[in-house]
Formats: sequence, C-alpha cells, structure tokens
Amino acid sequence: MDSKVVVLGSCMIDFSSYAPRLPKPGETLHGYKFIQGFGGKGANQCVAASKLCSKTTLIARVGDDIFGTNYIKHLEDIGVDTKYVKQTKDVSSGIATIIVADSGENQIVIVGGANAKLSIEDVTDAAEVIKIAPVLVCQFETPLETTLAALKLKREEGTGVSIVNGAPAVANVDPALLAYTDILCVNESEAEVMTGIHVDSVKTAEDAVKKFTELGSKCVIITLGAAGAVFSNEGDEVIKHVKANKVKPVDTTGAGDAFIGALAFYLANHKDLKMEEAIKRSCDIATITVTKPGTQTSFPIRKDMPKYFFE
Ligand code: RIB
Repeated sequence: MDSKVVVLGSCMIDFSSYAPRLPKPGETLHGYKFIQGFGGKGANQCVAASKLCSKTTLIARVGDDIFGTNYIKHLEDIGVDTKYVKQTKDVSSGIATIIVADSGENQIVIVGGANAKLSIEDVTDAAEVIKIAPVLVCQFETPLETTLAALKLKREEGTGVSIVNGAPAVANVDPALLAYTDILCVNESEAEVMTGIHVDSVKTAEDAVKKFTELGSKCVIITLGAAGAVFSNEGDEVIKHVKANKVKPVDTTGAGDAFIGALAFYLANHKDLKMEEAIKRSCDIATITVTKPGTQTSFPIRKDMPKYFFE
C-alpha cells in the first residue's frame, strides 16, 4: 500500500533489429544485430523509476504465455510490486517490432495483445494504491477509457499528481483526458498529432504548449530529444526551455520512457525539487540511456550514478 510511483500501462516484448538506416516503404534491408528485451511504455517507465530506487507498483496485463510469465518474474527481480499485473487467458502478450538505425533513430510497430484487456475493473481492483500514490503515471498503449477511469479516481478521491504520457499519439483526444491530467508529457511528433502544430524547434514546441493550454492542459512538457524539453506549469508566465547534454546516440528506444520514469521518481521522492530542476535531471537520465542499446537495459541504476542526481 505504500508504493510511491504507480504506473497504469503496457508491457510489450521488444524485438529489436539493428540496421545501418531505417527502411523505406517496401524495402528490405540487411540488419546486423537482433535483441529481445522487455518493453512497453508503461513497464519501461515503471522500471526506470524502480532503477532509481523508487518504490513502484505496475497495473498491467500480460498474456497467458511464456512471455507473460517471464515478464512478471523480470519485474519482480527489479523490485516492482506486481500484485496488479494479471496474466490474461486466450490472448498473447504485447509485442513490439523495433528497427534501430545507426543514427539511433527507431521505428516501432506494437501489437497490443493482452494490453488491450486492461479494464476499468483493473482500476477498481487497484483503487486504494492509485488513490494514495504520490504519483500516478499513464500512457496511451492501453485502453483510453481505463486510463480516464484511473485519472478520475485519482482527481476525485485521491491525493498526489498524475502524469500522462500521450504516446502513442491520439488525434482528437477526449478533452476529459486532458482535463483530468495534472502533467501532460509528449514528444515532438505526439505534440503535432494532438495539436496540429508541426513541432521542429523550441519556438514551435512553445506554440504547441500554448495550444495544449487552450485545450485544457495544466502543466505541459514537450520533450525534444537532443534539444531537451520545453514546459509550462499552471500559473507560469513564461514557457521554459531546458537543454539536454550532447552525446552520440546509439539507440533512442525508450529514452522518453526513462524521462517519464525519472520525472515520476523525482516528483514522488524529491518533493522540494523545482519542476525545472526535476525536468533537467530527467533529461540528463534520458540522455544517458541513448548511449546504450536496448530499452530497459539502457536505463541507469542509482548506485552507478553520480550523487548529485539524488541531492
Ligand atoms: O517507448 C519505447 C517502447 O515503445 C518500446 O519498449 C516498445 O515496446 C513500445 O511500447
């Protein structure tokens, strides 16, 4: 009952192929490496927070298959509370097919499988942990009505804050989802789908933040990869830009999830930290992940990190 970061979201098995560049439509390319790993934006965000030593609970569904069994064991080994991770009969675990180019860019296709079965009843089952968690984190890889039910429960009966990662992007998102979200976090392409504004610079990201505010968002963060992030908090007069450290990317898969997991960790465990500093440290953690291959395997572990991240 004392889990600090509660994540409602997805588990996927990532099949990642590495190739010199991303294929064009209809093209077959020779790749040079393949890895299978644990992914899914929800689980990734939960694992990122857990590796920073936050207490975590995941509310999710995996298939009644070897992938699902292995996924639950993996989460338990990391220290995630899996009481609300259910194996679901007659459906496969979620699968993500990922291509990673030498530039570090990726393309991902997900087949949700059991993730599509995450239900409002699952939210009801986990109601007590959702209500008391300092931070609830959701994404858009599981049914939106389930996400909305969790956000409503949190706002109407709970304490703490909610972070919604609008990924994968949803056009014409239900305004209620934005209204019940405390902190909305999206990347450039997700911001574009959701606001109609082409985001390719700090200036256009600021325009998208303003649009989200008009649509009813309170606190908005748009991550910009190597350019860091822009954000606006309710009541702020200016939109702020936080810069990221420069590195040579190897694999950007899951960097956004590392950012969200880190942000959730800071909001739950370092409550006095200013939002700008929490975002800067989360950008720095996401930057570390792009220098290593894989998704969760690239997330840093607290004991290997400089002390200033935790002061
Ligand atoms: O954000 C990266 C994740 O997106 C991958 O782990 C993949 O599973 C997809 O959900």
